Amino acid sequence: MNETKKKNVSKGNFIAFEGIDGSGKSTQIRMLDAKMKKQGIYCYTTMEPTDSPIGSLIHQIMMGRIKTDNKVIAALFVADRLDHLLNDVNGIVNKINEGTTVITDRYYFSSYAYHSVDMPMDWVIRANEQSSNILRPTVTVFIDTNPDAAIERIAKNRFHKELFEKKSRLIKVREKYLEAFDKLEGEECIIKVDGNRSEQEIAEDIWQKIKDFLN
Ligand code: ADP
Ligand code: TYD
Repeated sequence: MNETKKKNVSKGNFIAFEGIDGSGKSTQIRMLDAKMKKQGIYCYTTMEPTDSPIGSLIHQIMMGRIKTDNKVIAALFVADRLDHLLNDVNGIVNKINEGTTVITDRYYFSSYAYHSVDMPMDWVIRANEQSSNILRPTVTVFIDTNPDAAIERIAKNRFHKELFEKKSRLIKVREKYLEAFDKLEGEECIIKVDGNRSEQEIAEDIWQKIKDFLN
């Protein structure tokens, strides 16, 4: 994604978007970025998995070109996330310290939700401890979209069986998200929005809910 310009304050905000596949994260990130820009707040938007060499390995695994154990996949996401935070070229930590507001499409709650379908959530949380110690989001925005609606949105060009498998997995992932938010509500700033509405309604709700948390 793209960087525009830096904000002239000591530290930038870090906003993480979460939700099941097709929940509308990238749409809402685009809309929030545009809204912030109109107000003179310039943002750097980014995503996980990243386009780093570690992220590319993850993409190849997700496309089925490389097979490996679920624990290895979870660990690769941990490594990709640390690189996303710390690399010298476009690492998030440097950007936040320079005063840039960063918006990411997925962060460690994605790991908590997606990987805990197959393994204990506490294992996944512990594996991500370095990232949560280095940088917690100013706010995590969870777009809560019904898996049926999310599947419909991403349904084009897919076979029925694949969609059925995907739907049952997304139902579990959504439940795991809710479990993770309950578990960590004392440590994290989490905002939930109903994703089963129009893009505009969701965007307005997100703005009303996050604006008071931002510097
Ligand atoms: P994600 O990034 O969470 O996978 P996207 O933002 O890419 O989701 O949205 C998935 C699809 O659904 C896109 O085709 C997008 O245009 C559409 N979409 C996004 N938000 C809504 C909405 N509120 N209502 C209907 N369709 C939507
Ligand atoms: P992507 O095509 O970016 O999906 P989306 O547009 O829905 O974000 O693929 C990201 C996939 O990777 C998505 O299915 C969630 C999964 N994922 C994990 O399993 N663990 C993680 O830590 C992260 C960040 C993503």
